Amino acid sequence: MKKIDVVEQILNHHSNRGPAKEFGQAFAPTNIALCKYWGKRNHEINLPITASLSMSLGDKGAHTLIREITAENDQIILNKQKINLTTDFGQRLGVYLDLFRPHPKQRYQIETEMNIPVAAGLASSACGFAALILALNDLYGWQLEPTALSILARLGSGSAARSLWQGFVEWRRGDAEDGMDSHGVLLPEQWPELRIGLHLLNKGQKPLSSREAMRRTVQTSRLYSAWPSQVEEDMNSLKQALAAKDFYHLGQVAEANALAMHATMMSAWPPVIYSQPETIAAMQVVWRVRAEGVNVFFTQDAGPNLKLLFLEANQAAIQSVFPDLQICRPLLPPHK
Ligand code: PMV
Repeated sequence: MKKIDVVEQILNHHSNRGPAKEFGQAFAPTNIALCKYWGKRNHEINLPITASLSMSLGDKGAHTLIREITAENDQIILNKQKINLTTDFGQRLGVYLDLFRPHPKQRYQIETEMNIPVAAGLASSACGFAALILALNDLYGWQLEPTALSILARLGSGSAARSLWQGFVEWRRGDAEDGMDSHGVLLPEQWPELRIGLHLLNKGQKPLSSREAMRRTVQTSRLYSAWPSQVEEDMNSLKQALAAKDFYHLGQVAEANALAMHATMMSAWPPVIYSQPETIAAMQVVWRVRAEGVNVFFTQDAGPNLKLLFLEANQAAIQSVFPDLQICRPLLPPHK
């Protein structure tokens, strides 16, 4: 099963691939996993070994505008800067776009604005691919359901499957070989008081892609065999915590889940450690503040930055300890 087979299966029901509008555009929020996606059972079409669960970051994400152009090459502009098509990022996008070109020679101009640091473990690929597939859906008038768009976004980056919605999203593992049952599902819970604070320690590019780190972990870490059963328990606990609005339980499960994921990487060979000394120092501050009675937890992805989880009522107390925190309201109020 190749990516193109998945795309054809989804788009065949539509008078797809044109006529294109003058341009297509869309916004997609980025998402932070409370139960992480770590490990693929199919590398070609990004099928995960386990389910995962995330929350969206409201207005933090990617806005993308796409138009067909007559030119030799695609033009990709990220935050007003032209991307060199020979870089890893440029090539990855080009290969993804190949799946959707009406003719092999069709070129695109893509302008994306992201209001989060790119490729620093802040899920820029998640919102990037979700915004791109939504913009293509708009350009060609496919009118696909979010579930189908989630599957197509997944082909670009696994975590993008969760960026099609605002709110809490479960990415179901699915069982099918073609991955048609492996997509995001919006959970019904709303929790307007929940906050995520981005504690940026290092805005630089990460040294090793999550793709490579995952592959290495699954292949070499002896701790990885414990991961799927932990995820199963954590998914259940998170859903219970969401339903009961039990913040302490939610934070505890999310923090332990992130640390367990990093433990599997640390026990891979060659070892993978995304933390910097500042990351560990910040974890210790979180633990100290928590011991003093303020409910704050962290989660960490494939980079050195921490994302702090807390409730609105504790925002001032947490900001006094982490003054540079970028605070996001994960769920935008309805109709905004
Ligand atoms: O979507 P990818 O391939 O960039 O992987 C994302 C992996 C983590 O951010 C570490 C975990 C997650 O579930 O988002």
